[in-house]
Amino acid sequence: MNFDIDYEREFDPPRHAKPKKTAAKKKPVVKQSYESNAEVQRWLQEQALDATGHKPPFEPALLASLRERDWLLSSLTHFYEQDLITDVLNVAKSGKEATVYCCAADPSTGLAYLAAKIYRPRMFRSLKNDAIYRESREQRDRQGRVRRDRGVQSNSLTEGERAARVASWIAYEFETQRRLHTAGGDVPRTLAQVGNAVLMEYVGDAKTPAPRLSELELAPDEARPLFEQLLRNVELFLAHDRIHGDLSAYNILYWNGEVTIIDFAQAVDPRYNDAIYPLLERDVDRLCRYFAPYGVAADAARIASDMWTRYLIGELLL
Ligand SMILES: Nc1ncnc2c1ncn2[C@@H]1O[C@H](COP(=O)(O)OP(=O)(O)OP(=O)(O)O)[C@@H](O)[C@H]1O
Ligand SMILES: [Mg+2]
Repeated sequence: MNFDIDYEREFDPPRHAKPKKTAAKKKPVVKQSYESNAEVQRWLQEQALDATGHKPPFEPALLASLRERDWLLSSLTHFYEQDLITDVLNVAKSGKEATVYCCAADPSTGLAYLAAKIYRPRMFRSLKNDAIYRESREQRDRQGRVRRDRGVQSNSLTEGERAARVASWIAYEFETQRRLHTAGGDVPRTLAQVGNAVLMEYVGDAKTPAPRLSELELAPDEARPLFEQLLRNVELFLAHDRIHGDLSAYNILYWNGEVTIIDFAQAVDPRYNDAIYPLLERDVDRLCRYFAPYGVAADAARIASDMWTRYLIGELLL
């Protein structure tokens, strides 16, 4: 009889025993793309399933060869089903977190083009963890219920929770923009928002999106009126409980002598956070710095503090 038993093979090792590390047993590491993550896929499907209607399938030629085609379609199909867009014409601009597409508008909108701002999947990972922004917003869960999750860091969320947080973040951008446009601000009108995308008025023409103030030189006589108009917007925003939070020449479009303020992704509500004044000061300061070389003299600190004081004592209500 052979009592030569290979204990390691025949029996489970005792619980306290450390498993032997052998190179042969190592599983190969399969790198998964972020988009193929199961929760991200489910979220995309939920979006796609919500889309109803009997129109021919939405297949914009521009997207056909793109790697992120499915991701883009999951948002844009909604806008197509809602009779808001008929086609995707070109990429207007790629920003740090989102890409803006120029779309052909459905004639029922009364507009020729629409801008679809679509956040990239990466946004789900790199969602800014800045407490000042989170504490100044209501967070909503996937059912739309208001949550206060100030303490939860992005990196401790599941992909599903992160997706819900990003969607809530983008819904806030959409609502802010709608509120300020309705109030009469020089802000693109928003038409719809779904998950990771916002659909809004497009500034520019089919071939060229409007340049940003950072990209052009103004005529000397238009600088001061534009500066004053932009300050009036900052004041109007504040009167409606919003600070842009990232206002600069990079987020102001210029078209036919008119300015349009964009990118409300970092907007905050001063009612929810007392420490927010520096953001207002920074927005005003950046405007002043941009216009200074045109001979527009302005004291940013004084303008911001005057605006803030009038806001606090309720004298800013327009
Ligand atoms: N409504 C619009 N009409 C025309 N072009 C637009 C519109 N909205 C945005 N753009 C263009 O797309 C660019 C990116 O948009 P936006 O600033 O909102 O996104 P972002 O990803 O937050 O950008 P960034 O992080 O670089 O500021 C803008 O700089 C502008 O050139
Ligand atoms: Mg921007």
